[in-house]
Amino acid sequence: MPFFRGRRLRRTPTLRQLVQETRLCPLDLVQPYFVTEADPAAQVPIASMPGQFQLGLDRLLRHLEPAVDAGLAAIILFGIPQAKDTSGSGAYAENGIVQQAIRRIKERWPQLVVIADTCLCEYTNHGHCGLVLPSGEVANDPTLALLARTAVSQARAGADVIAPSDMMDGRVAAIRSALDEAGFSHIPILSYAVKYASTFYGPFREAAESAPQFGDRTSYQMDPANKREALREAAADIAEGADILMVKPALPYLDILSALRERFDLPLAAYQVSGEYSQIKAASQLGWMDETRVALESLTAIKRAGADLIFTYFAADFIQRGLIA
Ligand code: PBG
Repeated sequence: MPFFRGRRLRRTPTLRQLVQETRLCPLDLVQPYFVTEADPAAQVPIASMPGQFQLGLDRLLRHLEPAVDAGLAAIILFGIPQAKDTSGSGAYAENGIVQQAIRRIKERWPQLVVIADTCLCEYTNHGHCGLVLPSGEVANDPTLALLARTAVSQARAGADVIAPSDMMDGRVAAIRSALDEAGFSHIPILSYAVKYASTFYGPFREAAESAPQFGDRTSYQMDPANKREALREAAADIAEGADILMVKPALPYLDILSALRERFDLPLAAYQVSGEYSQIKAASQLGWMDETRVALESLTAIKRAGADLIFTYFAADFIQRGLIA
């Protein structure tokens, strides 16, 4: 009885490439940037995310130049405002740091897809993603109007895609109707539909200075133990008008990504979050794993599981170095 000789197609590099099922290209990737209002020339290294910075506006444009030239096609912006308050007013200020950044970037690179992260946590002094009641509870419905206002101000500044990451119920519907009313019916919503309450966000909270000052996010972000609930969250966001769905984090949640891929026809995004990035960086700094190879393997796995778009802190660097071409 002849047995299966899988090695026949692994014999030479070209043969292997010919039968390769999943390939990464620059158009798969979205690079996140942290833009700080403090000083236009700032470049503050983020200790827990080697190679990533809080960038002032001028400095951000300087970073973008070679990345866009090399083929980076999409970015997502997170703002670090100079002042924070209870209602996160910096998120929806017409001249907020992200609104300024979007205007400057779109003026220079009209073709670059600029995604605006829509959330309040970087702008609230308590660090939560919504308004906090005297009881300490994060209020759902009163937060919706502020998120909608944030989305409209980002669209007005020129954002190509609105990406709510707050996990309030009903925010996609609220944002969709506010955008439509303001004349932005053509602007898509990429919903962080399936966002888990994950410890993998730790380094991001240092980067964005957005750690909750009390409690945690478990009353609005999802329990990592739940898979069926992910399908309900996704279905709800589709019904509310989402155009793209996101799963976050990525690598520890490939089963979720794959389940969404089977069930829904919308484009899917996955966010390889800060902690996933930092793990790879730390292990490679210790000489325990090869950074480039383990990162490419992770990104390939995320795409193979069903992601059309991958948000990753490796995007600009890998595209510039020709590692993803
Ligand atoms: C804002 C937001 C977070 C991330 C993206 N948008 C942080 C959080 O929910 O605490 C995490 C991204 C990352 O870890 O890279 N709500």
